[in-house]
Amino acid sequence: MRTGRQGSVAGKTQVVVLTADAAFEQQVRATFGTSPQIALNVVTGSIDLVGETLSLTDATVAVIDLDAAMPREMRALEELMARIGAWPPVIVVTQNFDANVARTLLQMRVADFMVKPVSPVELVSTCARVAKAATANAEATESEIYTFLPAVGGAGVTTLAVQTAVTLLNSGPRGKASTCLVDLNFQHGACADYLDIEPRLNLGEIEPRPERLDRQLLEVMLSHHPSGLAVIAAPNRPAEMRSFDPDVVTRLLDLVSTNFDYVVFDMPRTWFSWTDSVLLGSNRLFIISQMTVPGLRHAKELVNAVKERLGDGPKPQVIINRFEQNVFSSGLRKGDIEQVLGEAFAGCIPNDYGLVREAIDRGVPLDEIKPGNKITSQLKKMILPQPAAKSPVESGLKKFKLSWAR
Ligand SMILES: Nc1ncnc2c1ncn2[C@@H]1O[C@H](COP(=O)(O)OP(=O)(O)OP(=O)(O)O)[C@@H](O)[C@H]1O
Ligand SMILES: [Mg+2]
Repeated sequence: MRTGRQGSVAGKTQVVVLTADAAFEQQVRATFGTSPQIALNVVTGSIDLVGETLSLTDATVAVIDLDAAMPREMRALEELMARIGAWPPVIVVTQNFDANVARTLLQMRVADFMVKPVSPVELVSTCARVAKAATANAEATESEIYTFLPAVGGAGVTTLAVQTAVTLLNSGPRGKASTCLVDLNFQHGACADYLDIEPRLNLGEIEPRPERLDRQLLEVMLSHHPSGLAVIAAPNRPAEMRSFDPDVVTRLLDLVSTNFDYVVFDMPRTWFSWTDSVLLGSNRLFIISQMTVPGLRHAKELVNAVKERLGDGPKPQVIINRFEQNVFSSGLRKGDIEQVLGEAFAGCIPNDYGLVREAIDRGVPLDEIKPGNKITSQLKKMILPQPAAKSPVESGLKKFKLSWAR
């Protein structure tokens, strides 16, 4: 079950309403203000001015009143939806409405929308229905965790983790699925660079008082890519030699895993005290290597080490990146990889340095440079949820709550 998402203050249903319309505000106060079951919080102003600072941490449901004809208000809504992730459910109230607006709102994963004038009965029943459905959904679904581990340095873990996160983000049944990419290379990560965003995670600030780490603080430490992808990454500290308290790391990961549909971890090569917990909590575990004899050997060793440590946990699958099949060379072939790795072999990703380099240099996903490219399409085949894949629940493990494995 996802924790901390019920949004209640002293047992009350917390309704947050953002509006710049005095008449609507008055109506909302009259509708909700008298109910002892509801804690009403009205924020006045238009979303493009106050959306950025709007806190929905404790909300059960949020009602956003905006002018859908104003692009800057729709943009602010999109930013808000990306920032809050999967919780709380948002109901949009608009004056103008057409099929395009409806489609855009659906893509933003808005829970429902209403057109003014809105009757009080309709507003109450919509809030109740949306809150109930979202709570049931939050309890029933948990995030899918995808973890990428390097077998050798520079194998392409960050490239494939970024691409996976973008693919999962766009794989929602109605548009975007809330997705967070977490760069666990605290000392020299590259996720933020590859996406051209500012890293905002400051573990040093959390460490003295880990209990302070809640959804609100997490929000401060999240970076947002314009695609809607949330990213947790720390600024590089090339000369720093320190490791972080595993409790802080697992608390952070617990929190992330309860707030997004998908979480993607870019793992470092070094095995830390929290590494086992991350691997145990994962649904899919990919080891990335390259097509060289040492690359295959290291991948095989890592598969064995992970199996030994995780027992019945998620099965590691090896992806060979930068694959090139040259029939005339005496080098390794696909058959050799299959022979060495056996059932742990997931597949190959083609080598296309020009494309990857351009994407990295421009700080954008590969599809933005070349839609339908071979790297992305091969990766999709391996990562998109397969019905037969065993989840930790099915394999008898308690589902992601990193703390259980501490
Ligand atoms: N499929 C690919 N085709 C061509 N080049 C690639 C491919 N994947 C990654 N690369 C290149 O390989 C290099 C290393 O990639 P990346 O940073 O993703 O690897 P990494 O495993 O995260 O490295 P590190 O060990 O530094 O964390 C980059 O220069 C990238 O452009
Ligand atoms: Mg990397």
